[in-house]
Amino acid sequence: MKVRITCLVENRAALSSRVWGEHGVSYLVEKDGRRVLFDTGQSGVVLLHNMDVLGFHFPVDTLVLSHGHYDHTGGLAAVLSRQPGLPILAHPDLYAEHLSIHGEKVVPIGPPLPEASLRAQSKLVYSRKPVEVAPGIWTSGEIPRQVPFEMISSRRLVAHTHAGVLQPDPILDDMALIIEMEAGLVVLFGCGHAGMVNTLRHVYKTFQRPIYAIAGGVHLAGASPQRLDATMQAIASMGEIPFMWLGHCTGDRVVSHFAAIWGWERVHFCAAGLHLPLPVM
Ligand SMILES: [Fe+2]
Ligand SMILES: [Fe+2]
Repeated sequence: MKVRITCLVENRAALSSRVWGEHGVSYLVEKDGRRVLFDTGQSGVVLLHNMDVLGFHFPVDTLVLSHGHYDHTGGLAAVLSRQPGLPILAHPDLYAEHLSIHGEKVVPIGPPLPEASLRAQSKLVYSRKPVEVAPGIWTSGEIPRQVPFEMISSRRLVAHTHAGVLQPDPILDDMALIIEMEAGLVVLFGCGHAGMVNTLRHVYKTFQRPIYAIAGGVHLAGASPQRLDATMQAIASMGEIPFMWLGHCTGDRVVSHFAAIWGWERVHFCAAGLHLPLPVM
């Protein structure tokens, strides 16, 4: 079984590399000859540039979208220009209203490509349930919100109710990607809006296997010290996760905090251009 996971888009770029960084996420998962793209970054320009620099080419087998925010779906048009008809898997709330409060303004932060265009140019499938998109590569499906301190992802992220009132956006479309390896599972986060603890509990419950590594954004930038403590306690109680490559919306301060307590050999900053160092087997 051969697995290679490459970070194609991240807020930071790998040291001494020619790749570019931007606020966004994209990973390529290669497993036993199958290739699954997870998210597309924000601009599409950075994704295509980094793929060229790293020697990756289309086609891929499937694209999985972690959720509808622009920094994960903004590269859709660029990807579809390289691979028209690409199979895409996402949660049915991908195009639910996603807004963000910026001062006095409330701005849309959903996918720049309209749903009708996406449908016309790809093979788009929605599922709330976990789906095995390639052998041993799964979407998490919808992640149950159970942990009290993770009930609201962010007060800035909102959507209208049916009565027209702004309320916190539940972002039910937020999903993780899970890769099965002999050493355990690898869990890739997009933005982690469902909550780091909710997501990992859901993965343990669904797959009943230890987690070997996690990577991506877990949306803790700006979290209170109490929330960080509660998060770390909850994760430690689930069993040790040997490796973490965190970035995007995790917050540099939070990655450093995790690393100071759990060890820098265990917790790393993720960066575009990085191949996750996984065991060869
Ligand atoms: Fe997001
Ligand atoms: Fe994000």
